[in-house]
Amino acid sequence: MQYEVVLPAAGSGKRMGAGQNKLFLELLGKPILIHTLEVFEQHENCTGIWLAVKPEERAFIREMLASYGISKVKGLPDGGAERQHSVHSCMKEMEQVDIVLVHDAARPFITHAIIANLVQSAHDFGAAIAGVRAKDTMKKVRDGIIEETVDRESLWMIQTPQAFRFDLIVEAEDVAEKVGFLGTDEAMLVERLGHAVHIVESTYENVKMTTKEDLLFGEAILRRRVAETY
Ligand code: CTP
Ligand code: MG
Repeated sequence: MQYEVVLPAAGSGKRMGAGQNKLFLELLGKPILIHTLEVFEQHENCTGIWLAVKPEERAFIREMLASYGISKVKGLPDGGAERQHSVHSCMKEMEQVDIVLVHDAARPFITHAIIANLVQSAHDFGAAIAGVRAKDTMKKVRDGIIEETVDRESLWMIQTPQAFRFDLIVEAEDVAEKVGFLGTDEAMLVERLGHAVHIVESTYENVKMTTKEDLLFGEAILRRRVAETY
């Protein structure tokens, strides 16, 4: 089943502390952004990629796309001050499609198998997001004191991709924009409409490159994958 993907790439990577957009940092000699783009470039069901970028980084990113042979990018609109604005600016340029995926450009280890499950689930139910079960004991803390131990069975750590029927995510974004609601993910906007969002079990490998130590995990994952290919 076909889909188009929105990749917000217009952040500044403050927590990485690299003094530049973290997506330009390399894992085993290739920029994080390219690792992520290649997943979709190589997925035959992906029919288009939309990349939200900072205006001052657009020319550099275009050069990177050309030199790594990334051919599916249909547009590189300006990102916004918040991730949600960056996603919205891509959505505004897209033509109607059946299924839209939103995926952090900073998560290079997503697999075609999980994407396929998400696309199928979004097709069947309207909205589906990737997540993994919480591993640690979870407690609610206020002012440094434990309030309660939360039932871990019901807790999931949410990732991207998040997949939606086009009309549903467009409506959810329009409503959020109108009332000035800012969510931490796209699913929140859909939840606000009262629409059920389904979970698709992902893997702990689908980490977001956020802080310096994530780069170490990232390189270890890549090394193992390279070893498995041969
Ligand atoms: N992003 C974006 N526009 C923003 C903020 C973030 O397109 N205004 C993108 C980032 O480039 C990243 C994804 O959203 O691919 C997830 O965000 P995050 O991991 O928070 O990245 P940054 O915002 O760049 O990092 P930080 O929060 O540490 O500054
Ligand atoms: Mg951020």
